[in-house]
Amino acid sequence: MCGIVGYIGPKDPVEVLVEGLRRLEYRGYDSAGVAVVDDEGAIAIRRAPGKLADLEKVIRAQPLEGRYGLGHTRWATHGRPSEENAHPHVDGSGRVVVIHNGIIENYLELKRALEKKGHRFVTQTDTEIVAHLIEEQLKNGSGDDFPTAFRKVLPQLRGIYALVALSADAPETLVAARLGPPLVVGIGEDEYFVASDIPAILNHTKDVVFMEDNEIVVLRPDGPTFMDADGNVVVREPQRVPWDPITAEKGGYKHFMLKEIHEQPRAVRDTLIGRVSLESSEILLDEANLTDEHLKAVERVCIVACGTSWHAALVGKFMLERLARIPVEVDYASEFRYRDPLIDEKLLPVFISQSGETADTLAALRYAKTGCPVTLGICNVQGSMLTREATGTIYTHAGPEIGVASTKAFTSQLTALALLALKMGQARGTLPEEESREMIRALYHIPAQMEQYLDDDSEIQALAKVHQQYTDFLYLGRGVNYPIALEGALKLKEISYIHAEGYPAGEMKHGPIALIDEELPVVALAPRDRVFEKMLANIEEVKARSGIVIAVTDAESEDLTEKADAVVIIPRTLDLLAPLLLALPLQLLAYYIALLRGCDVDQPRNLAKSVTVE
Ligand code: AGP
Repeated sequence: MCGIVGYIGPKDPVEVLVEGLRRLEYRGYDSAGVAVVDDEGAIAIRRAPGKLADLEKVIRAQPLEGRYGLGHTRWATHGRPSEENAHPHVDGSGRVVVIHNGIIENYLELKRALEKKGHRFVTQTDTEIVAHLIEEQLKNGSGDDFPTAFRKVLPQLRGIYALVALSADAPETLVAARLGPPLVVGIGEDEYFVASDIPAILNHTKDVVFMEDNEIVVLRPDGPTFMDADGNVVVREPQRVPWDPITAEKGGYKHFMLKEIHEQPRAVRDTLIGRVSLESSEILLDEANLTDEHLKAVERVCIVACGTSWHAALVGKFMLERLARIPVEVDYASEFRYRDPLIDEKLLPVFISQSGETADTLAALRYAKTGCPVTLGICNVQGSMLTREATGTIYTHAGPEIGVASTKAFTSQLTALALLALKMGQARGTLPEEESREMIRALYHIPAQMEQYLDDDSEIQALAKVHQQYTDFLYLGRGVNYPIALEGALKLKEISYIHAEGYPAGEMKHGPIALIDEELPVVALAPRDRVFEKMLANIEEVKARSGIVIAVTDAESEDLTEKADAVVIIPRTLDLLAPLLLALPLQLLAYYIALLRGCDVDQPRNLAKSVTVE
């Protein structure tokens, strides 16, 4: 999951490229590089292992100048992070330069064939092959110009790619192609961009074209030319994105993650806006393209996702089964199609993805489409592949989420799932009018309750200080809150590198209880709901083995105060909506522990924001 950016225009390309890469660094940050071409056609390349800051150091030491160029920030798939494996990569002549996001599965086969023709390779990457294939295409006397040679190489590649290339022999020309990972083309005032994601170009233009799969674009000073795989020119109209550059900034917060935690009241509010008529309490999900007839006719729902989005799916199961009385399966996207699931017109498959570009989730969607006429996406990125391939989408309006650890997208997904459950319950007649109104009132109250809780996080900061040195954590929850235990554990794992597990509390006795001793903090989610007493008993079992208990609840409780080592109180809401508030202290606890351990909160090691390869 790398970040790609290309620029042609009057501005200093090095500045535009490096700034673009800074805004894409959440996509991969183990090495980076840029290449620019000057007026004489001379190509200058600078690469560095490590963060973008390391590349900037190299550029300050060896400045480079040019008229246009391309840049890349990497998340290694083939070849360890190093200067030589960093992109851009060149062909044998050094005149063709390529950057790539994705995986060329048949690169070894292609490499061997090229080596037989005398090509020599200097990196361990799959991408370097593409540069040599273009060189070979240009050399083989076909008389192809650079864009044509580039286009003719693509069918030889098996796998997925977002590719951008330039050639010293094709002045002022950038070419790009997409098959899988995202690429957007930015249309500015006499300047043109190509990038993996909108934040990279947002401070230059809001007018973008989302490239389709098997589409190619040639960028020149007079504008972009879009072509299909056969070279036929296709007309693409730009669309204006609703985000402004400021939303992609830290806004005075130390980290994007902390900013995004504090943006959750607005994100939930924006995800609700215009979707519930407070008069009739009818749920309006226009972009979902779901008819009440279809919602009545379906007999099963399956929700498919990865990571944090999968945790949202688990909460969605509770909401849909409770309000719409329909059986719901929840699948890891990477498992879904390989288990040969029963897909037919009676199934409503729902795909949740913040980025809308997660390869496993897209593959599961494509599989479901072979049997299900209606497919629903829940997504945060307009124009992303999921929103273009599903028959309908419920957009979460969380705004750009830059921190790799998902927070505001998660609670916005829970909001979207609550809206879907209400809609299905209303359509299937399983939801009494009063219960529907009560749920909608409580949902509308959530943003204010979030603001109230987020107003002062000093208590959580203190808890983080006390617990930062522990090496293992256990998170427990019951019912609709068990997925939040999983999510709390994931947040701590992914940004502080502490081993943490989430478990249904009732399951603890069947194994994890063996882990408990005075060195294991246990975060117990115990709102005053119908299983509160059960949670109290589980907390007793932990205390009986000298475990440390941090209880999170929504009302004072003498029993809890007596039994737990620390009690965190969140505002009270309906049982089914408690996950939206319970997530907040867990996100903050993970954030402050990671901060105290000196971890790179926004760009945790080995992770990337959008996983665009399987
Ligand atoms: C969550 O904090 C992680 N970044 C990761 O688990 C993420 O949720 C997962 O990769 C799914 O991403 P998506 O929602 O963009 O599909």
